[in-house]
Amino acid sequence: MSNALIVFASKYGTTQKIAQKIAAGIKATAVCYDCKTGTMISADSQQNVKQVNLAGYGTIVLGSAMYMGMPISAFKKFCAAHEKELLSHPVALFTCGVGTSQEDEGYLRKALPAALNSHAASYAHLGGDVVPERMNAFERMAMKEYVKQHGPAAGINEQAIAEFCIALNKLTGSL
Ligand SMILES: Cc1cc2nc3c(=O)[nH]c(=O)nc-3n(C[C@H](O)[C@H](O)[C@H](O)COP(=O)(O)O)c2cc1C
Repeated sequence: MSNALIVFASKYGTTQKIAQKIAAGIKATAVCYDCKTGTMISADSQQNVKQVNLAGYGTIVLGSAMYMGMPISAFKKFCAAHEKELLSHPVALFTCGVGTSQEDEGYLRKALPAALNSHAASYAHLGGDVVPERMNAFERMAMKEYVKQHGPAAGINEQAIAEFCIALNKLTGSL
């Protein structure tokens, strides 16, 4: 069983929380990499790195928060810049957002390079949160409108995270 890397992009911290829950929930040793800030986050340390060396990991999990039907741009850039290398690892995807799994999977996959999209078989939507005090005025308005139409955000989906961890254990060969 080799180490897993969880690459994530988050604006207000919910996707980071999810990435860290995945890292704690899978059997392989896992580190999280914030591709927006270039920070490596393990259970007991945080370190800024100039470049992440994907060769040192087995399974790579890629996840982003969704904004206006798109993953965060640093996430798209990371996937495009590392596409070739990613194709030589087992890859799983997740989204964080208040939309449906079907919507968000479509948005995420559309934003990925085609070969990486076909390569990444495993996907999960792990819920999302709305924290108005962290948002700017435009975002607060957009979310107010969303909640009017769809009801309140359901929050982080712990059950979906647990199921995703089981799928990842299979992918990393730790079952
Ligand atoms: C302006 C705005 C647009 C959003 N658009 C989407 C969207 O298209 N799909 C979705 O599922 N969630 C959407 N969300 C919800 C966020 O993805 C959700 O708040 C998520 O938890 C944010 O994660 P983060 O804290 O890691 O940035 C949107 C939120 C805001 C404020």
